[in-house]
Amino acid sequence: MGKILSISNQKGGVGKTTTSVNLASSLSYLGKRVLLVDVDHQANATTYLGINRANLEYTIADIFLERAKIREVIQKVDSVNVDILPARYELGDVSQYLLGHDNKDYILANALEEIKADYDYIIIDCPPSLGVVTINALVASDSVLIPVQCEFLALDGLTQLLNTIRVIQKKQKYNHKSLTIEGVLLTMLDTRSNIGYEVINEVRTYFKEKVFKTIIPRNVKCSVAPSHGLPVTEFSPGSKGSVSYKNLAKEMVELSER
Ligand SMILES: Nc1ncnc2c1ncn2[C@@H]1O[C@H](COP(=O)(O)OP(=O)(O)O)[C@@H](O)[C@H]1O
Ligand SMILES: [Mg+2]
Repeated sequence: MGKILSISNQKGGVGKTTTSVNLASSLSYLGKRVLLVDVDHQANATTYLGINRANLEYTIADIFLERAKIREVIQKVDSVNVDILPARYELGDVSQYLLGHDNKDYILANALEEIKADYDYIIIDCPPSLGVVTINALVASDSVLIPVQCEFLALDGLTQLLNTIRVIQKKQKYNHKSLTIEGVLLTMLDTRSNIGYEVINEVRTYFKEKVFKTIIPRNVKCSVAPSHGLPVTEFSPGSKGSVSYKNLAKEMVELSER
């Protein structure tokens, strides 16, 4: 049965999308059946995987607007053995529609329920906010992976996310889930500066064993790969970025099988 995992941090630019795409592809290399769900109206994950957004008949917005069945929206990714629920700019209009909806926090959870058995992992790339779309993602999830950039003010704003997680756990009484923290992932470590290592210590002191052992280094291949419409694991399989995401996938799978 598919494990549903949100990649979330309301701060932008911390590596949510890079992690979603590359964790998805790395899990697929381990033989896992993976669905990536793009719920950011900027649709970066959709673009990173080389999906031509102009040609899509349906996107994730049509699920929130209850205009399409989830199976009609799922696309196959060409470069890796991953399926995707793609997004496009119209996802930005969804919040307004949901305001007047009785069940507004459970729409994604209900839709994913229909296809959960087809996958081992369902990874949701969240937008940089704690709005209604993120709430939908978290309510649907079994766990949340929190990317934290190894930079000054890394932990800033995380209290808000942790409070939101508690609120979600109460909401989940209705769908019998209980959101856990899958782990905190340290991203974009610049190995040449001290600040990164200071952040690692600070984050480990705060989150203790919840911090993944795998750390993602700053690696230019990670930032170039998206312009080729490929995960870094395909674009440059031997690069430090690629290897670290494959290690993260192994660490996650081992944790869940322990
Ligand atoms: N490990 C990394 N090394 C170098 N650049 C990275 C790395 N991870 C992400 N980036 C780049 O940093 C920017 C923000 O990353 P992104 O994954 O889009 O963050 P978010 O989804 O949290 O906004 C992007 O330009 C991305 O290519
Ligand atoms: Mg993003």
